[in-house]
Formats: sequence, C-alpha cells, structure tokens
Amino acid sequence: MSGSMPSIQKKGRVFFSANNQYSVIHNNQMTENNLKITKISEKTKEIAGKITKIKFSSKADKYLKLIKKWADVAYIRKRYTFYRAKTQKSLKVSGKLLGYIDSLLYTSETTENAFVLKSASRTDQAYMQIPYSQGRFYEFLIKSTGAKNILEIGVFKGFSTVFIARALPEGGLVYAIDRDSRPIAKARQLWNHFGLSDKIHFELGEADEILEKLSSDKPSVGFFDIAFVDASKEKYQYYVEQSLKLVKKGGVVVIDNTLWKGLVQYNNTADNGAEHLKKFNQWLHQTYGENVCIVPAWDGISILYKQ
Ligand SMILES: C[S@@+](CC[C@H](N)C(=O)[O-])C[C@H]1O[C@@H](n2cnc3c(N)ncnc32)[C@H](O)[C@@H]1O
Repeated sequence: MSGSMPSIQKKGRVFFSANNQYSVIHNNQMTENNLKITKISEKTKEIAGKITKIKFSSKADKYLKLIKKWADVAYIRKRYTFYRAKTQKSLKVSGKLLGYIDSLLYTSETTENAFVLKSASRTDQAYMQIPYSQGRFYEFLIKSTGAKNILEIGVFKGFSTVFIARALPEGGLVYAIDRDSRPIAKARQLWNHFGLSDKIHFELGEADEILEKLSSDKPSVGFFDIAFVDASKEKYQYYVEQSLKLVKKGGVVVIDNTLWKGLVQYNNTADNGAEHLKKFNQWLHQTYGENVCIVPAWDGISILYKQ
C-alpha cells in the first residue's frame, strides 16, 4: 500500500511513488469514496522506471480534478519529481529549484543587502562567480568551524569574499589574491557596502608568486584555517600544495569547479578546463585519499582536510 496521500495514474501506464513505494489506483476504482490502492508487481515497477514524462489523458485529468478536492496536485506532481530523482540516486538541481533554495536563504538578508547581492549576481561575467547559495555554504562552513583566518585564491569582483569575510569573527582576516586589477574597484564597492573592508587584505599579483612568498614567510605557515581555491584551473595542484603549507593542521582547502559542468566524467572532452580538472582530481585523490571529499553541488567542490 502507498502512504496516506493517494497516487493518480492511468491504469498500467502512469505511476507515482509515495513514501518510496509504488501504487496503482485503477480507473474503475477512482471515485472519491472508493479509492483503492493496490501494491504492484516488480515487473510494473520496472516499466514505471522507464517512464520519464507523464501525459495525462483527458480521463486522467478528470481523476486529477477529483483528487484535487482533498489532495494537493502540486504535491502529487512533486512526488513524481521525487521518483525521478530517486532513479538518479541524486537530486538534479534545476534553475527553478536553485531559485527556491535562494528564496529561502534570502529570507535572512536585509532588503538592501538582498538587493545588492542580487545585483552583484547579475553582473557582467557573473558566470565567473560562485552562486549565492554556494556563498552561503562557505559562510556557514566558516561560522560553524570558528575559522578566523582565510586565504582566498581568485577574487574577481569580490562576490565570494563577501560571504567569507562576513562569517569571520572580530579580528578575522581574508587574505585575497588576484592578478587582475580591473574588477577590484567593483569588489571594493561591494566590500564597503557590507562594512567588510577592514577584514579583507587584497593582494594583487600572480598567485604562484604570492603563495611562494607566503610559504617562505614563517608566520604565514600554518596561519590560515581555510583556503579557498578558485583561480587558473591548470595550476590547481600548485595552489593546493602551497595552501596546505599555509593552512594549519585540522584546517581545510576548499577547491571550486572540480566537477566542471559534469564533463570530468568523460574521456575525451575537448574542453581544456575539464581535462585540467580530470588530471587534478586524479592527483588529489591518489595523494590525499581519505582526506578528500567531493560535494556534488554547484560546479563541484572538493574539500581537502589537513591531517
Ligand atoms: C572564477 S574567478 C574567481 C571568482 C570568485 N572566487 C567568486 O566566486 O566571486 C577567477 C579569478 O582568478 C584570477 N586568476 C586566474 N589565474 C590567476 C593567477 N595565476 N594568479 C592570480 N589570479 C588569477 C582571475 O583573474 C579571476 O579573477
């Protein structure tokens, strides 16, 4: 039997899952007072698994209206989404779902900050920036671990830096590196708006050189709690090696874009970014094994724990 909410279907053709079970309501049983839910066979489940799109016939629509009287159609449709997600083992986050997530997260922003952050999300070349929800994830990570000193490699217009810096306690610092001076005016504007300028030290230049200098400076070694890596993909291995020197024991290195639009799963991608990241991922996991995890969200984030 299914759960308390009924499923609707056209006999033998359309299936919904409810509470992880499959159910059938036969057409001839579908009256408001006579809804019988029958458990279905393995074979039918197999057929149901192949259905990717549901088209309601006019007859089924009639039943839908009937059920609408006491069950929420949206809920029924949502259950179908759940069913599809289940077959993929992991939820596919559509733009619409991401919008829903954002709308929940934005409830904790002031109207003014929400406006500023939304505008910054729509900036020219916004695809270079992490999405808002990812920024909130970084903010949460920093707050919940009590991190105080952060290294950021790849700043652009300072969007990710906002979430990092505003999560820091009194006296916290973001050491932010970028070689491009052009977007920095926008970044500073954003940081000023949030009153974060005192917490951010921006270093202009090639990340390799700056990291090398920092690594040979004794007080900087083991100074940082977290490093965020989001610059040249072909240099990720170097960034991680240097970051590991600069992060303290028990700290983490957070690396963005490691699933590169999902392309990393293919052999010959003809995509430079994907090829760099495939090589990088291979190296990362071979070298640090159990101390690495992958968060399959946004464009893929890998997190490396320094033992
Ligand atoms: C993807 S953007 C960073 C976006 C930012 N983290 C955000 O989410 O808002 C990458 C940045 O890395 C910088 N970058 C790339 N290669 C670099 C290098 N070798 N040294 C310093 N900065 C570099 C680029 O100038 C660019 O601004």
